[in-house]
Order: sequence, then structure tokens, then C-alpha cells
Amino acid sequence: MGGRIRGEEHARALRDHRAVNPKLRVAVLVSGHGSNLQALIDACAAPQYPAEIVLVISNVPTAYAIQRATAAGVAVKVIDHHSFATREQFETALLHELTGARVDLVCLAGFMRVLSPIFLKGFRGQILNIHPSLLPAFPGLHAPRQALLHGVKITGCTVHFVDEATDGGPILVQAAVPVLPGDTEATLADRIHLEEHRIYPMAVRWIASRLVATEGRRTIVEAKPAVSGLSLFNPGS
Ligand code: GRF
Repeated sequence: MGGRIRGEEHARALRDHRAVNPKLRVAVLVSGHGSNLQALIDACAAPQYPAEIVLVISNVPTAYAIQRATAAGVAVKVIDHHSFATREQFETALLHELTGARVDLVCLAGFMRVLSPIFLKGFRGQILNIHPSLLPAFPGLHAPRQALLHGVKITGCTVHFVDEATDGGPILVQAAVPVLPGDTEATLADRIHLEEHRIYPMAVRWIASRLVATEGRRTIVEAKPAVSGLSLFNPGS
């Protein structure tokens, strides 16, 4: 997706680099607990996994995700948005680190800052996000709470490309979970989290393996739906 959009020169540099090191270079942007970061770290530990995390950036100096990155020996930078007078300056600092690390794909994983067109232009088509609902239902904050309040019987999670619309970019994969009697926001969020940890590494693997095509808003992956335990994936692995 990104190759068509990026400049020819950048695309050539990426091809040359990947001829030597075929793994996709991934950065993960975090603000908090980092369980999705951990799922990606664990996936990348498998020798055959086609991506590697080359940089973790946290905008929150106390985020537990930083400890996860450090424990895994992954390079981590804290770029605290409070240290910058404007969003533009903050995002320029992010872009500087990401381009310096020759990042191919940016994965937002609980990153609690809205990114402006300035940032999106730098990595257009190369940014993924994970959201704890079946988008376009329940965008924004507290998606499991919104699902409970609405009374839906099925919710889930979505990995999508990031564009200007909040939680609105093209969808890559979704997993569905039931809302069970007696669920609280915490129990529902935990059930969704388990599925997030499955589908985010899958999505990154597909991109790294060049299995993802796009047609306007639709993404196409050569994989059939899969049912696992209490959840439905589509596509599956
Ligand atoms: C996840 O529920 C994700 O969908 C949302 O933020 C949460 C991050 O959790 N964007 P963690 O920090 O990865 O544990």
C-alpha cells in the first residue's frame, strides 16, 4: 500500500534495504500498558516472522509499555508531548525519530494522541491502529463501555489503516466477541484484548508478507474467515 504512495526514491531505498534484510521495520507508538506491544514483540521473536520492531516510542514517560520494550531489548524513546509548544513540533519530533530508524510501518498500540495531517503525510498508507470495537461502531474513547451502554450482543476489535478520520481508515481485520450476561467494562475489555493480541500480529504479518491489496476503502487479504473459541476472525490466518 505504502510503496505506491511514497516517493520513488524512498521506495527504491526500501527495496534495496529489504533485499539484504527482508524483515519489515516496524515502530510501535504507545502511551500505556502496552499489552498489544507485547503481542507484537512476542510475534517478532519467532525467527520466521517477517517483521521486526526497530523502535518503540512512548509519549508518556511512565508508561508500562516502556518496561516491556526495555525487557525485550527493543530501542525505546520517550517523546513527551508536554515538552512541545505545538502539536506540529511534537509530530515533527516523532517523524524525525521514525525516519531516522528507517521505519516501514508504524503501529499505534494504545497511543493516546490524535495524529494530524502533518504526521499522516509522512507515513501515508503505512500506519495501522487497533481499536476495541467492530468499527465503524463505537469510535473514540471507552469503546467497551459504549458497547455495554448500547446493549449490543457482539462487539470486538479492528485493525485498520490510519487516515484523517478518527478510527475511520480502511479496515484490515476484525475479530468478534460476545457480550455476556454480567459483563462489566473490565471483563468485556479483557475479552476484547485477547483477540487484539491475535489479530494485530496477523495484520502486521500480512503487510510484511505483501498480502494486502487495497481497492478504495476495501482491503483484500487472501485469507478465509476463521472461528476460534468464542471469537470470529475475518480474515483469519
Ligand atoms: C487497546 O484496547 C487498543 O485497542 C486501544 O488501546 C488499548 C491499548 O491497550 N487502542 P494496550 O496498551 O496495548 O494494553
